[in-house]
Amino acid sequence: MRISARDLLPPIERYTERLLLRPFRRRDIEALYTAVRDSQAELAEYLPWATKTFTRAGAAGFVRESMRSWREGKAYDFTIRLQERPERHVGNISIWHVSRSSRSGEIGYWIRTEDTGRGIATEATHAALRIGFEDLSMHRMVLRVAVGNKASERVATKLGFVREGVLREEIQVGGRWMDHSVWGLLDHEYRCLTRTGRGRKTPDSVNPDGR
Ligand SMILES: CC(C)(COP(=O)(O)OP(=O)(O)OC[C@H]1O[C@@H](n2cnc3c(N)ncnc32)[C@H](O)[C@@H]1OP(=O)(O)O)[C@@H](O)C(=O)NCCC(=O)NCCS
Repeated sequence: MRISARDLLPPIERYTERLLLRPFRRRDIEALYTAVRDSQAELAEYLPWATKTFTRAGAAGFVRESMRSWREGKAYDFTIRLQERPERHVGNISIWHVSRSSRSGEIGYWIRTEDTGRGIATEATHAALRIGFEDLSMHRMVLRVAVGNKASERVATKLGFVREGVLREEIQVGGRWMDHSVWGLLDHEYRCLTRTGRGRKTPDSVNPDGR
């Protein structure tokens, strides 16, 4: 399928109140590897790729694939950085098309363990919703959350997602089948939440100087 210009996201930096989100570059490999290694036990609970054998080569492969996917308009992966400490990788957030014809997309994320509990996932996901609905003209955005992942369910709830149902044994993590709950947000719901201030934790801008 030919990708229209509106489905291609420019590879620019995005800023929220505390965060910088930007596409991956080759020199991010070490920072990504360190963040995954330091968070491996917590990530491995829900993310099948985050095994003890995750290597620098794995991080390099991710960055290479991420750069290609962005160019091809398949998926947009962002490295999450704190503006006050931009050299450190604090997590990933990604947006991808589920169906281009139905204008639906999905968001996925993880946060480095030592930075959890500070609202970073919520702030980054809010920025991803803005990109999805405003830049990519999505009609519907979803999160798939492992049943029992209370922190991630809370992120979805805080941002106004509606829990729509459960996909049974959708994913195998560490040899164990897990159910996923599907959380959806529609464009008109997002606009309503944004207008009323709910689901809008922080003001976003493309750049702090307004570029
Ligand atoms: C899930 C995850 C992304 C959350 O990141 P985070 O930056 O800590 O999220 P936030 O701080 O924005 O919000 C987390 C919320 O969950 C709450 N929370 C955390 N652990 C909880 C628990 N066990 N039970 C109930 N609530 C919990 C926090 O208190 C917070 O809510 P609050 O703001 O109302 O106090 C992070 O823990 C992570 O990466 N986990 C491992 C990988 C993963 O699960 N990825 C998501 C797959 S869908």
